[in-house]
Amino acid sequence: MEGDRAHIEEASRLLARARSVVVVTGAGVSAESRIPTFRDAMTGLWASFDPQRLATPEAFARDPEMVSRWYDWRRQKCAEAIPNPGHEAISAMERALVARGADFLLVTQNVDGLHRRAGSRNVIEIHGTLATWRCTRTGEEYSELPVPLPAYPCPSPAGGLLRPCVVWFGEALPEAGVRRAVEACGRATLFFSIGTSAQVYPVAGFADVAAGAGAKIIEVNPEETPLSPRADVVIRACSAAALPQIVAGAFPGSAGADR
Ligand code: OAD
Repeated sequence: MEGDRAHIEEASRLLARARSVVVVTGAGVSAESRIPTFRDAMTGLWASFDPQRLATPEAFARDPEMVSRWYDWRRQKCAEAIPNPGHEAISAMERALVARGADFLLVTQNVDGLHRRAGSRNVIEIHGTLATWRCTRTGEEYSELPVPLPAYPCPSPAGGLLRPCVVWFGEALPEAGVRRAVEACGRATLFFSIGTSAQVYPVAGFADVAAGAGAKIIEVNPEETPLSPRADVVIRACSAAALPQIVAGAFPGSAGADR
């Protein structure tokens, strides 16, 4: 941890003087809220489920019961989970930056809703959210749904079937969200990549857009990723431990940071 101490202090120095910050998070930031990641070999979702059989429009068309049941199981895990100190620290970072007139944008690949529950406001849920499901016939969206759903697959009030508002393999990401994220990266002076394996594009390319605009890149991840060699600061630690220290070091006394 000593080596990380120096990196954490460097990250705090960069954050304290940042004028425009983009944070990108992945499943790792929710790992300490007991929500499985995707690619962690032993504990990840894909250690026991084949995403190609569950997270595609074809899978839903082939077996809507199984796909609805799997996603509603994940929705229930998310509903039971609570935001961890990493989520809280990102929310505290946003408040501190906005209070100083700096820009802040959080782009999350997570569909668990924990950033919003931790108080993050300027958030793009670029892979969608499990909290909302939509009708396959009309596209109408429903977010006040019982947990668990009453049936699998679940008929929608509009006559089709309900499917989760998450991006499946082979589906496009929300265009407006991607555009807004790329524009923010093009203006960023500091970019955080937190808890993501940095393998899935276009999100994995956002760090390069920010770096191209002159931003410093900070990675927080206990493991090496393809981004690590290009990051200015690499903190090989879990986000729930590292983020509160980074934010408290940058903005002493910022509530919700170093708990
Ligand atoms: P992954 O499971 O690919 O990567 C999770 C990352 O979090 C790994 O690099 C872990 O080392 C790291 N990690 C694990 N525990 C951590 C902790 N406590 N603190 C910080 N980092 C930790 O998940 P994502 O990168 O989010 O897309 O995956 C990106 C996308 O791939 C997902 O959004 C999903 C999947 O296809 C869709 O479903 C469209």
